[in-house]
Amino acid sequence: MADRKYIVGNWKMNGLAESLDVLAQIASGAALHPAVDVAIAPPATLIARASGGAGVIGIGAQDCHAAASGAHTGCLSAAMIAEAGAQFSIIGHSERRADQHETSADVAAKAAALHAVGMGAILCIGETLAERDSGNAVAIVCDQLEQSLPASADSGWLTIAYEPVWAIGTGRIPEMADIAEMHGALRGVLTRILGEGGQHIRILYGGSVNPGNAADILPIPDVGGALVGGASLKAETFLPIVEAAAAL
Ligand code: PGA
Repeated sequence: MADRKYIVGNWKMNGLAESLDVLAQIASGAALHPAVDVAIAPPATLIARASGGAGVIGIGAQDCHAAASGAHTGCLSAAMIAEAGAQFSIIGHSERRADQHETSADVAAKAAALHAVGMGAILCIGETLAERDSGNAVAIVCDQLEQSLPASADSGWLTIAYEPVWAIGTGRIPEMADIAEMHGALRGVLTRILGEGGQHIRILYGGSVNPGNAADILPIPDVGGALVGGASLKAETFLPIVEAAAAL
């Protein structure tokens, strides 16, 4: 299994040109921790400029269309975001599954589209609060992973992010034992479907990760890093998470 932790910031619909200063601070802070993989997914409007000053950190998009081109007003293909400077894209984030009605089949197609142009993908899955309260969260999220997984999945380009919907932006996180249970179950799905290769795909945890809880979450077995929303918008709150990963 990849030992290197992967700490990824998802800026969502936040960031104008002035945020490139934050990116520069994050890039110089991350350079002090070469054993940790660090990336930021700014809004698509900033990808080209962000990739110019990214230094050691990766730059990604937050979505892409599954088709290579065509009549899809307002959408961006994988080749377009790659040309702008993105090395990967987040796909299947719960906000897109909810707001844009993306299905797991859509997400699998987006993953394949990214792979086809040589990009990485961070594929998001996670249960709602009602699903957690039903007691079936593990089975539901494992099924979501299986339905979202592209046929060509492997650790060279694919990362999974487990993000409980009820933990995103709320300040609430699962019990550490629940994170461990979910990541262990997801590892089981990956190895059942992909064999040995499934051992090496990193599974990030996301949902209210901050400097106060990162040191508890990151050492959990099968947690390969973190997908960070709110705390990634400032270097002061993002870099301590990178430092927590470096200290392991
Ligand atoms: P949050 O967002 O860290 O603000 O909870 C995480 C995410 O949605 O990726």
